[in-house]
Amino acid sequence: MIRVTGLSVSYGAVHALRDVSFEAATGSVTAVIGANGAGKTTLLRAISALVRPTAGEIDLDGTRLVGKSTENIARLGVGHVPEGRGVIEEFTIEENLRLGALHGNESFSVGLADQFELFPVLEERRKQHAGTLSGGERQMLAMARALIARPSVLLLDEPSLGLAPLVTAELMKTIKELCETRKLTVILVEQNAMSALRVSEHAVVLHLGRVAADDRSEVVANDENLRHYYLGMAE
Ligand SMILES: Nc1ncnc2c1ncn2[C@@H]1O[C@H](COP(=O)(O)OP(=O)(O)OP(=O)(O)O)[C@@H](O)[C@H]1O
Ligand SMILES: [Mg+2]
Repeated sequence: MIRVTGLSVSYGAVHALRDVSFEAATGSVTAVIGANGAGKTTLLRAISALVRPTAGEIDLDGTRLVGKSTENIARLGVGHVPEGRGVIEEFTIEENLRLGALHGNESFSVGLADQFELFPVLEERRKQHAGTLSGGERQMLAMARALIARPSVLLLDEPSLGLAPLVTAELMKTIKELCETRKLTVILVEQNAMSALRVSEHAVVLHLGRVAADDRSEVVANDENLRHYYLGMAE
């Protein structure tokens, strides 16, 4: 389980996160939703130690993550798929996956077969440069690159960005299956509140760096005030 307690992050005078606390249960999807600038990316970056909090704690199954390096946190089993996907365009699918496998313990061929089973389209295009992939394929590659290291926690930053609704629905289904079959703990950051609420058990709503709501996704989805004030969702 990931437990965040009293987390604050500032960029100079900008308080991106203020006193954020929540828990993400093992083997389930926790959605983190909120408008542009709410602090969603900052939260994931703090978990991976890409930014240093000014206060607060982050625990992974009782191990304190604050103070550890990004490499050590990855080795402890935290996979991070950044906003914008971050695949290397000049590399082929297979080469990108080879990079992802660097800090895993498994043999590359076993990991590769596993990812190709999960995302068959990547196998068909394994020699294709990532720069020529569609948005959906690129997102699959970014996820496969994180998964090949066999993480226990997967941080996903706006996986649905720029994808067609059908592709998003397919991706969300895969995320859900991963949680169930591999006991993966997923923190899913989305501006697309509806699809994130559909796939998650639990949701945290961020507003200007603070937790505006923390509840079962079903409750958040049916709360008219939250929908109206924080999620910008039409009736
Ligand atoms: N490197 C940085 N330097 C200064 N300010 C930053 C930096 N990164 C983020 N911020 C500020 O911190 C706040 C939170 O940003 P963050 O990227 O976490 O939001 P977000 O919820 O992910 O937004 P979006 O939905 O647009 O991706 C914003 O006000 C942003 O301008
Ligand atoms: Mg963001």
